[in-house]
Amino acid sequence: MKTNLIIPVLALTLVIPAFAADEVVSANYTKHCASCHGKDGKGQTTMGKKLSVKDLSDKKVVAEIKDDVALKNLKEGVKDKSGKELKKSFAGKLNEAEMKALVAHAKAFAK
Ligand code: HEC
Repeated sequence: MKTNLIIPVLALTLVIPAFAADEVVSANYTKHCASCHGKDGKGQTTMGKKLSVKDLSDKKVVAEIKDDVALKNLKEGVKDKSGKELKKSFAGKLNEAEMKALVAHAKAFAK
């Protein structure tokens, strides 16, 4: 009897944290990113259009994204040439692991 229980219990302990982490990443995306990039990553929001954000569901766009640059942009924010802030820094709101997960999440719209 005991051994019959071990496998499902083990399976559950592996599945639950992975599922929970996914949920957190989606919630963070909705909260911090969707206002500009849109729920679907296409950037067709009022803010997204104003800032002309690229379509993150386009494979060609995503192929050009460098993870370290995207991460730096989340940490430090993005300014245009005249120094106007396009994207504010998320430092203090999200930690590095959360930012990395969000970059991966944003890139996954193109799949
Ligand atoms: C205030 C609007 C705004 C918000 C909020 C925002 N972004 Fe961006 N994002 C931009 C702009 C502007 C760019 C630069 C133009 C482009 O590449 O689309 C950009 C670019 C990107 C890129 C392409 C790589 C790069 O850095 O240039 C990724 C990936 C990205 N954002 C992910 C995110 C994630 C993840 C979040 C949430 C933590 C987020 N963005 C929140 C406006 C925003």
